[in-house]
Amino acid sequence: MNVKESLLNTLAASGGEYISGAALAEKLGVSRNAVWKAVKALQTEGYTIESVTSKGYRLAMNNNRLSEKLITAHLNTKLLGRQLKVFDEINSTNTAAKELASGGAPHGTAVVADTQTMGRGRLGRTFVSPAGTGIYLSVILHPDLELEATSMMTIAASVAVAEAIEELTGVPVQIKWVNDIYLGGKKICGILTEASLGLEMKSLDYAVIGIGVNVRSVRGEFDSELIQTATSIEDETGLVIDRNALCAAILDRLEVYTDDLRDRSFLKGYRRRELLTGNDITAMVGSQPFTGKATGIDGNGNLIVELPDGSVKHLGSGEANLCRIKKHLP
Ligand code: BTN
Repeated sequence: MNVKESLLNTLAASGGEYISGAALAEKLGVSRNAVWKAVKALQTEGYTIESVTSKGYRLAMNNNRLSEKLITAHLNTKLLGRQLKVFDEINSTNTAAKELASGGAPHGTAVVADTQTMGRGRLGRTFVSPAGTGIYLSVILHPDLELEATSMMTIAASVAVAEAIEELTGVPVQIKWVNDIYLGGKKICGILTEASLGLEMKSLDYAVIGIGVNVRSVRGEFDSELIQTATSIEDETGLVIDRNALCAAILDRLEVYTDDLRDRSFLKGYRRRELLTGNDITAMVGSQPFTGKATGIDGNGNLIVELPDGSVKHLGSGEANLCRIKKHLP
């Protein structure tokens, strides 16, 4: 690691506290002049480093640059995100991750972008991904699992993202079956899991979990229709969260929950936050719409729905699409 990288890691780890030039020089084993030069170089690269004569240097808490170094400085994983590519702009991090996976990229490789020109959502929808506001993160997994396990991955990812957001904001979020995170009744995150089957078509060759979180204000970025249903952490809470720290926190939790997807302990955190439960819903199974009351989530992550005739259906995310919730979302 060179002086610039060591300095950035030290400042990122200080949690916004000032560190004096002398202390930095001693820690990094270089002169104070070398510290000053490294600070200038980082500022030129777009990092907001504040300096106060009597206190020293600190990385501004509102530093809004996504970077490999800053994400890594917060990361506590063994594998996830240890191979990390951060782009200023990309078509879609999921598309890029799938290309990398096909080329042999290892388990845990992650792709992050500041903006996506062709962000993709479920059912062929577009995921609006403006610059400087969100986290667009895709992670390659090589799980030893069957195709059906992809919905478990999405559920694990939902809980991982929910916990990461709650840790950094202190504000509780909800999960809408199966891949959306809600705050204040509007969507702040969507998850798209895409899988590739192995040659025998039985087990997964790889899966890509794509996560899009609206972090900074999206007012003025989303059109008048989207703003009715989608929001951001900042717009709902007034909190300005460091996107690098959130990215790392998501990867930390995702590693825990995807390490062994047969251990479904994350379902507890999922059920606690799931917001359809207790509501009347209309879902499409194939071309068939039906209405019932969502009563909970079963051990496989399916939505349990009680139909008007008293029968019970367990809906998998792959077979059903949610059309409507009758009661208003909280
Ligand atoms: C949805 O809401 O339907 C899912 C949205 C998933 C968006 C993320 S952003 C990172 C990754 N790249 C994409 O193109 N899509 C996913």
